[in-house]
Amino acid sequence: MRNIIEDTITQAVVASMREAEDARLRTVMTCLVQHLHSFAREVKLTEDEWFRAIRFLTAVGHITDDKRQEFILLSDTLGLSTLVTAQNNQKPSGCTESTDFGPLFVEGAREYKSGDDISNGASGEPCFVSGRVLSADGSPIASARIDVWQSDEDAFYDVQRRPESSLTAEHQTRGRLSSAADGTFNFRSILAGAHPIPHDGPVGRLLDALGRHPWRPAHLHFMIAAPGYETLVTHIFRNGGQYLDSDAVFGVRPSLIADWVRHEPGVAPDGTSLGDAFYTLQYDFVLNLRNI
Ligand code: BEZ
Repeated sequence: MRNIIEDTITQAVVASMREAEDARLRTVMTCLVQHLHSFAREVKLTEDEWFRAIRFLTAVGHITDDKRQEFILLSDTLGLSTLVTAQNNQKPSGCTESTDFGPLFVEGAREYKSGDDISNGASGEPCFVSGRVLSADGSPIASARIDVWQSDEDAFYDVQRRPESSLTAEHQTRGRLSSAADGTFNFRSILAGAHPIPHDGPVGRLLDALGRHPWRPAHLHFMIAAPGYETLVTHIFRNGGQYLDSDAVFGVRPSLIADWVRHEPGVAPDGTSLGDAFYTLQYDFVLNLRNI
C-alpha cells in the first residue's frame, strides 16, 4: 500500500473494503468507487473542479434541514430519483405507475372525511377530485390510506410559505383521507398550477449554469397505502399543462396525465352552487399486490 499511483489507486481502495461485514455495502461502495474514479479519469478532473464540487456539496449540506431537503432536489434534478423509483417499482400492466416522492411531503397532515375541502383556506379556483382505489382485478380496496399534497395558485406548497411552522392546523392543500367500502374517495381542493422547485440554493444555481429551468408541470401528489398491497407513490398531471415535456425532475409518465375538466359556474359535484368556474378531476388508482 505504499507507492499508490494513478494506475493503482482504484484497486487499492477496492481492496481496502474487502473485509466489510455487510456484503451489500461492500458491493455498492466498490462499484461507486470504480465509477467515481472512471469519471475522474474520463473528464480529466482538475484540482480546481474537484474543489468546486466539494464547495457545492458543502453548500447543499448547509441549506438542508428538516424542511429543506437540497440533497433530494439534487437527486431529482439529476434524474437519479426517477431512475431509482423506476427500477424499484416495476409492476404488471394495469397497475398505476409510480413516480418521484419529492421533498415536500409532510408527516402528520390533517385527516379529512370524504368530500371535505383540503385547501384549508388556501385561495384558488375550486377543484373537485374523485376516484377509486382498486386491485388489479378491478375489485375495490376499502380503507386505503390516501395522502394528497399539492401547490397552491401562487405555485407554493404550504411548507414553503411558512418554513417556520409545520403545525397540523396550518397545513393547507394537503391531507389524509380513506377510501370507502366501494374503493371511492373524493375531496375538494384548489386548482394546482405549474410551479418551480425551490431554486434559491445551490441546486437552483446549478440548473441556471446548465441552462435549465426549475419548473414542474401542474400535478397532485398521492401516496396510497393498503394492507397486502405495495404502497403507491405517484402524481397526477394536468393534461395540456405547461412543462409536461420538460419537467425539471423528469417525473412525468403518459399514464399519469389526466383531464382536469373546467366547468362554468353552476352546481358543483358536492351539490353547492358556485358563482365561479370550477374544475373536476377523476382518476382511478390500481395498486399492486405485495409479494409475500
Ligand atoms: C414537487 O413535486 O413539488 C417537487 C418534486 C421534486 C423536487 C421539488 C419539488
